[in-house]
Formats: sequence, structure tokens, C-alpha cells
Amino acid sequence: MRITETADLWYKNAIIYCIDVETYLDSSGDGTGDLHGVTQRIDYLAEIGVNCLWLMPFYPSPRRDNGYDIADMYGVDPRYGDHGDLVELIRVAHDRGIRVIADLVINHTSDQHPWFKAARRSKDSPSRDYYVWRADDPGDTSEQTMFPDEEDGIWTYDERTGEWYLHHFLHTQPDLNTANPQVRDEIAKMMGFWLQLGLDGFRVDAVPFAINQETLLGHDEHEFEEPHDYLRALRGFLQRRASGQGSAVMLGEVNLPHEEQLDFFGGAEGDQLTMQFDFFTNQRLFLAMARHEAAPLAEALSSRPALGVEPQYANFLRNHDELTLDLLSEDERNEVLGAFAPEEQMRFAGRGLRRRLPGMFEGDPRRLKMAYSLLFTLPGTPVLFYGEEIGMGENLEVPGREAVRTPMQWTAGKNAGFSTAKPSALSREVTQGAFGPEHVNAAEARRDQDSLLHHITRLAKRYRESPELGWGACSIIQTGVSEVLAHQLSWEGKTMVLLHNLGPEPTVADFTLEDQQSGTILMDLLSDESCRLDRSSSSRMPLGGYGYRWLRVVGENDHRLL
Ligand code: GLC
Repeated sequence: MRITETADLWYKNAIIYCIDVETYLDSSGDGTGDLHGVTQRIDYLAEIGVNCLWLMPFYPSPRRDNGYDIADMYGVDPRYGDHGDLVELIRVAHDRGIRVIADLVINHTSDQHPWFKAARRSKDSPSRDYYVWRADDPGDTSEQTMFPDEEDGIWTYDERTGEWYLHHFLHTQPDLNTANPQVRDEIAKMMGFWLQLGLDGFRVDAVPFAINQETLLGHDEHEFEEPHDYLRALRGFLQRRASGQGSAVMLGEVNLPHEEQLDFFGGAEGDQLTMQFDFFTNQRLFLAMARHEAAPLAEALSSRPALGVEPQYANFLRNHDELTLDLLSEDERNEVLGAFAPEEQMRFAGRGLRRRLPGMFEGDPRRLKMAYSLLFTLPGTPVLFYGEEIGMGENLEVPGREAVRTPMQWTAGKNAGFSTAKPSALSREVTQGAFGPEHVNAAEARRDQDSLLHHITRLAKRYRESPELGWGACSIIQTGVSEVLAHQLSWEGKTMVLLHNLGPEPTVADFTLEDQQSGTILMDLLSDESCRLDRSSSSRMPLGGYGYRWLRVVGENDHRLL
């Protein structure tokens, strides 16, 4: 049976919001954010128009990698609360029409997980084969580690049993042997557990690593099938378990060029990941913004493989990690770094930036508003990282990627309203300086109609009212202005034209629509300036510096003038 026949496709025009429970809101006053704190802010999120929360790992963890090193896949970190608090959060979210997904880490565990502790005790341990071991010296693998600043390679020698174990990330994050049927059963059981508690799916961490069975070849006695069969099996399992609650999603982290991403969807009609972050378009978008030139982004959108009804691209500007630029050429990468991270301390591992957007744009509100308008009009589903909606900045004093994971700034008061604890007891420092809470906070943004928060709320509302954006087919429109990205999205007879000026100077975009009819109206969804078209003459649309317009194409006698 096709998945669409049973599934609800709610995610096709959802607005996803990523939360780090650790830094969102501390309801108990101990200095660490907690699940109850998130529950208290569900109405704030509903008001913005968010309808899917993505919770970053909340499981027990030694937190060498912000919780992505999990010590108990069934647990809730007691600093955040307990299972009851999670169920309460899910219940309140569902009551407001908000779905909840959580990180699913299947590539590795923490080295403190009982499986790994047992595995390294003896070669005969029942869970030895849950991980990947080799007896021969792997040689230099420094090119393959994801964390070149912290690790020498992807294999670490274990004294006790005299073998090396595999870890693509930190050596405290041993890779699971996902070719082992017992590991697969454990993963399925664990997914079933969280779905039963009410989750609506998962953000699947580091997918290409998790099914990279090539690395395992030669080191294991298991029969190897086509690695994508495993992803297909996981999706099938998810769909069977979630059929009672509409549908659940697997939103995968697959940082690869578009053609390779298609393999992780399982082709355009997709029976593997439901959604994938579009890292390729994200990186071309930053190159386009650095150059004030639409071409790199227009090319990415034109060459992006079209998807069928079920699969979906998820778009983002920033996330909780570094802004990685690894899919750009070296020259392109240097251009983006030069424009947006002029100082060495703003960079991460030679491949990205540890900054949030406002810092990169030196706080220019016009450029920020244009960038979020672009995010909501890229074909697909937009994903926000907490704090983006109020324009939070990074704290470069905090090491590594934590620079963008500082406490949410709720008010201008003590600890930014995040916690009532002593500042020295906070699990992470609040950002200071130009982007500190006295300048950037949710309470003031709520009162100011011109704030980024209100802008994003308006965009979210229009996005939800415009199914073309989440569902439509995209084509690029020529305007003769190199700074302007003009694209058209069409779905079931409805069309929108989106214009974005990536440059700081005002300009005029000149374009003609395909099958343009006399009397067609371009209705501006963000202002009251509509314009009527002739059959053949081009439209001349003025755009301010970093200006943008969302235009719905409506016929003269069309009563859908909304
Ligand atoms: C993903 C996460 C990142 C984490 C890594 C290892 O890339 O987004 O934060 O460090 O996986 O789990």
C-alpha cells in the first residue's frame, strides 16, 4: 500500500521550531532549562504559528556532545524532568495543534551507555557486536573525523581488549553496528516506545553515517544488504506504529548534494526519509547573500530534484550546529567566511561559522527580515532554531558550537528571564553585548509591531494560508537584475510570485509571467499594493534595499482575493 493512502501529510506545510530543553526555560530555578519550562511556552509558540516542535536530545547523557551522546535511549535526563513532564508537554502541544518530534540518534551511543561499557569489558560480551571493532591498526584516518579540532581519526584503541572501535564523531560516541539485527531490533523497540508516549516522529541524526555499512565491511561477519533497505525498513516500521495517530515523520540530517539526497528519500516518490534538511540549498543561499547575487540560489533551486506527494524538503537558515559550508568549493567557502565571519574565532573546524544570523548581518534589520522572508518562501517546510524569531546573537566567549546555544532571552531582566538561579549556577552563560537581553528579548519584541518576532509571525500566517509554498512546483523567473531572486510556485491552479532583493540598494524587477493574461492581478500578501497586468507588457516591481514581495496571481474575476 502506498504510504499516502494511510498517512496525513501535515508536514508538507508545517512550521517547525527546534528547542534545546537545556537552554529554553528553567521552571525550577536550578539554572538548567526543563521540560515543564517548554510546556509553559507552548502558547508563545502557538501565537507565532509554529505547529511542530523538534526537541533536541533530552535523554540521560554525559553531555560531551550536547546530549547527542546518549547513555539511556529510554530515559529523560533528570535535570529536565521525567517521563510525566514529557507526556504533559506533548499533551499541551497537541491541544494547541502542535506536533512534537525528537532527535533519534541511531549512529552512536555514549561510551557511558551500558551496552558499550559491557562491550569494552570483554570480547565475549553479548553487546560486543553492537559496536564496530577491528583488530588491525587503521592507520591515519584524520581526514574522516567530523571533529578535526578534537579527534585524530575515527578509530580509537581500547586497551582492555586490544582492539580499535569506530566513532565518526567524538571518541566518547562509539558508532553502533547498525548491520547487526539485534541493534536494529533495539532501535525499533526504542522508536516504538517514544511513539507510544505520543511523539509524532523523529529528527534522525547523522543518517549517512548511520547506514554507512561500507565502513563496517570486512570487520564483521554479518551479511550486508543494500544499506538503504534498512532506512526503508525503519520508515515502514514508523508508518505501521504511527498509523493510529495520523502519521509520524522521519526528518533526516543528510548533508549531501541533491542527487545523493534523492537516494535517502528512496527516489522522488520516497519510501525512506519523509523529509530532509536541504543543506545544499542552504549553503548556496549563504553564498548568494554574501555576493548580493541571486544566481547561486537560483541555480540550486532549479537543479533541485522535484519530489512526489509524500517526501518534502525542510529549509533552514541556521540550526544548532555550525553553519557548515562543506558543500561549497574552497573559494566559495572563503567568500562566505570572508563576508560573514571575518575573525578566526567566528569560524568552526575550517568548514563553517559558529554564529547566528544577526551577528553575520551586523544587526541590519532589513537584511534579516528579507532572509526570513526568503526562508518562508523556499519551496518546502521552514525550520526555525529557538531564538531566531527574536534575533538572538551568538556568544563567542562560549567555546565551540555552544556559542549559538545560549539561554533563550525572554526578558531584559536577570538571566534574560531564562532562570531565577544565581548567574553562576546557569548551565550556560547568557549572551552579552550588542545582542544581550537588554537589547534583544521576547517581551519587548512582543510589544513592538516592527519587531522581527512580529515579522516572522506574519510570514508564518501567510505561509500557512499559501499551500503553494509547501506543496508547489518551483520555477525561476528572469528579471534582468542580478541581485533579485524571482521565483514562482504553483500548485493546483494557484500561483505565487516571490521577489527578493539580496542587495542593499533599491531596484526594479522587470518580468513577464508565462501565459500572462490581461487583467491578471498580482496581489501583494504583505502590503496593500496590488498591481494589474496587461497581456504582454512586463511588470515593473519596485523593491527596496533588501526588499521582498509575496505576490499571489489572481484572475480579474477571481473572488479568492485573499
Ligand atoms: C548531528 C548533530 C550534531 C551532533 C552530531 C553527532 O550532526 O546535529 O549536533 O554533534 O550529529 O551526533
